[in-house]
Amino acid sequence: MKFFVDTADVDAIKELNDLGMVDGVTTNPSLILKAGRDIAEVTKEICDLVDGPVSAEVVAEKAEDMIREGKHLAKIADNITIKVPLTWDGLKACRTLSNEGHMVNVTLCFSAAQALLAAKAGATFISPFIGRLDDIHLDGMDLIADIREIYDNYGFQTEILAASIRSVNHVVEAAKIGADVITAPPSVIKSMANHVLTDKGLAQFNADWAKTGQKIG
Ligand code: E4P
Repeated sequence: MKFFVDTADVDAIKELNDLGMVDGVTTNPSLILKAGRDIAEVTKEICDLVDGPVSAEVVAEKAEDMIREGKHLAKIADNITIKVPLTWDGLKACRTLSNEGHMVNVTLCFSAAQALLAAKAGATFISPFIGRLDDIHLDGMDLIADIREIYDNYGFQTEILAASIRSVNHVVEAAKIGADVITAPPSVIKSMANHVLTDKGLAQFNADWAKTGQKIG
């Protein structure tokens, strides 16, 4: 399973990338706002840091404008993935950009029907949003399972990029279902290392070690 980091925070990406945890990055307009950086500048910095795909999102609503914006973003670096929304115009933009050899991430996917259309339109990645479905009391993980089944039934090459990940459990469940990629905030990826029994065990070992009066090295 590939790990993408869902942030435009360069320092946070660097920390995870140095550990070999980063296979790619996803950004969106809200994350650019949160970073408080110029989109071209921060995206270039991320692309220079990370070898894998870096998603940069268009903001236009009409296909022709999305295509224009997408091509502009793609000039930032070779590893740019153009992110388009799952609308009819977004699918048109996906088909054109994909035909021209660009990687395309179709985002804001909330149904299996939408995911099927994205695959037909040549998407490199489909981004089903787990957390936002859970927010409205639907099961985001059911959507990942449905898309996995449909893509496998027909051999679609579009990669399932499980997005809007809010918890460690989301990561594990998406991995069990067979999502190709997860994109998660740095805090979620780092909290995967935590376990209460690890903390408890470590405290016990340290306390016992202190009693030995020994030193290593
Ligand atoms: C995916 O590419 C999106 O940037 C992201 O996962 C959205 O997550 P959110 O629902 O937590 O904003």
